[in-house]
Amino acid sequence: MCGIVGYVGPQNSLDVVLDGLRRLEYRGYDSAGVAVVADGRLSTAKKAGKLANLEKELAEEGLPAATIGLGHTRWATHGGPTDRNAHPHVSADGTVAVVHNGIIENFAALRAEIEATGVEFTSETDTEVVAHLLAATYRGLPAGPGRLAEAMRVVSRRLEGAFTLVAGHAAEPDTLVASRRNSPLVVGVGDGEYFLGSDVAAFIGHTRRALELGQDQVVEIDRTRGVTVTDFAGAPVEPTAYDVDWDAEAAEKGGYDWFMLKEIAEQPQAVADTLLGRLGENGELVLDEVRLSDQELRDIDKVFVVACGTAYHAGLIAKYAIEHWTRIPVEVELASEFRYRDPVLDRSTLVVVISQSGETMDTLMALRHARDQKARVLAICNANGSTIPRESDAVLYTHAGPEVAVASTKGFLTQVVACYLVGLFLAQVRGVKYADEVASIVDDLRELPAAVSQVLAGMEPVRELARSLATEDTLLFLGRHVGYPVALEGALKLKELAYIHAEGFAAGELKHGSIALIGPGTPVVVVVPSPRSRGSVHGKVVSNIQEVRARGARTIVVAEEGDDDVLPYADHLIRVPRTPTLLAPVVTTVPLQVLACEIADTRGLDVDQPRNLAKSVTVE
Ligand code: F6R
Repeated sequence: MCGIVGYVGPQNSLDVVLDGLRRLEYRGYDSAGVAVVADGRLSTAKKAGKLANLEKELAEEGLPAATIGLGHTRWATHGGPTDRNAHPHVSADGTVAVVHNGIIENFAALRAEIEATGVEFTSETDTEVVAHLLAATYRGLPAGPGRLAEAMRVVSRRLEGAFTLVAGHAAEPDTLVASRRNSPLVVGVGDGEYFLGSDVAAFIGHTRRALELGQDQVVEIDRTRGVTVTDFAGAPVEPTAYDVDWDAEAAEKGGYDWFMLKEIAEQPQAVADTLLGRLGENGELVLDEVRLSDQELRDIDKVFVVACGTAYHAGLIAKYAIEHWTRIPVEVELASEFRYRDPVLDRSTLVVVISQSGETMDTLMALRHARDQKARVLAICNANGSTIPRESDAVLYTHAGPEVAVASTKGFLTQVVACYLVGLFLAQVRGVKYADEVASIVDDLRELPAAVSQVLAGMEPVRELARSLATEDTLLFLGRHVGYPVALEGALKLKELAYIHAEGFAAGELKHGSIALIGPGTPVVVVVPSPRSRGSVHGKVVSNIQEVRARGARTIVVAEEGDDDVLPYADHLIRVPRTPTLLAPVVTTVPLQVLACEIADTRGLDVDQPRNLAKSVTVE
């Protein structure tokens, strides 16, 4: 995580950098800092806490007007969230300022080496070693164009771990350099001005033209020489250019109090965009971007779905759908566990990695492990051009648009829909026994955007209910079948947003121990499957509601329209439209998102940036 911005051009760099940091603050908000070069001097300002703290200080103290600048918003890894540990870090001779996203794993050895030369460190961060190394390397290089970039290449070759680095030098008033390994970096190209950012949000207010950087590359942006990209050895690289397909307005709140509310409201459109162009007229799936041959897809004998957090919950739902439609065994794994347990993978294994940001380090490492073992990797991702899809054999983009709130909402719903597409596509290619059912499900998918809109239209009672729950200490969530991952997701949303203890359970599992948690008035949210669901699972969930109610629970029941069996046992009833069982999570999750958001808001919390979290988790 951490957000990084760099600017070279005619505008006041401080304004441009702060504007970029505002848009990247979702990546981390433990501290923020900026540096500019003016009149042969570096000036920096940095402050613990949110960007607003830094902006306040800058309003009082200011920085010189300058045409290059760099900035950072931090999610702390090495060293606590203090002023001293905030980026940029400056070399002991005051010439180099550097900002960093990632972790430099060999920093301790490098620090010892630098300290042996008499340099005193001023922070506890891994990043500071880079500032000192860059300054010393620069001093040892001949003067001339490209000197700072060469210093960056030399230093990058010595670093282990994950890093995006952006650096400026007091003697280089027109140049910034950056380096990337296992951490995101994009270049923005404007009219006579250049930008660096952790993602395009950093410069989307100025240009939509972007360049994608690959692994182990260094870029120099210079007012006269423009953009120069090389690998770490100095060999020139031609970067891939693309135009960003969303604009600055899409990254703004658009009248909502919170980005999360806006993103919840955007879900019908986001789901429609995930489906767009992928449902053929004759009930067939059109997934041209899945660049695996039909034969490769037919050869698959096992599927792993690998992801973290909310994306993992999407994977749990995928298991029910893919196994049912394809009869291929599916295992779902937390990415942070996957490679460490030595999973059995080979050429006929399909690994589906799910990541909204496309930068989650745990998921990236799991994907690399899968590819090393010769498995085929298909990414489901929202962020175009991010690392995970770039390193996968195939990608299905969710096209949900920018998700700014730290808690994923439209990212999740569209991941679930993309998983359905993958499952149905596999079934289509392999021609399995549920062919008729698969064709009718394709029609049902088309109804989902309207169904989500219908849920959203009825959310006022849920908000009212949420306000009455805001002082609770614990909430439990129950579900069976695909309702179980929905229960897990409802609990996660509540924990991360409202800091209330919440747990999701398989409803049938509760009686094996956890039912002891239920006392008088304990709120229990139950996600009820359709009465038309297979295997009488509906009846079993209705019994589970009775069990918890008999022990004093206050029941909050999410059930489809027309399901009257739940009426006697529901203290609060949340209705969702009738939806085929496997697709139901797309509608049943929505009220749980609204519930968590409203409870957090009632508690006076920052819904978009909950404590201790970051949007894109680029450390393991
Ligand atoms: C929770 C949430 C996280 C992410 C997880 C993976 O609301 O958003 O649990 O789902 O960090 O992130 P991505 O999907 O970007 O890999």
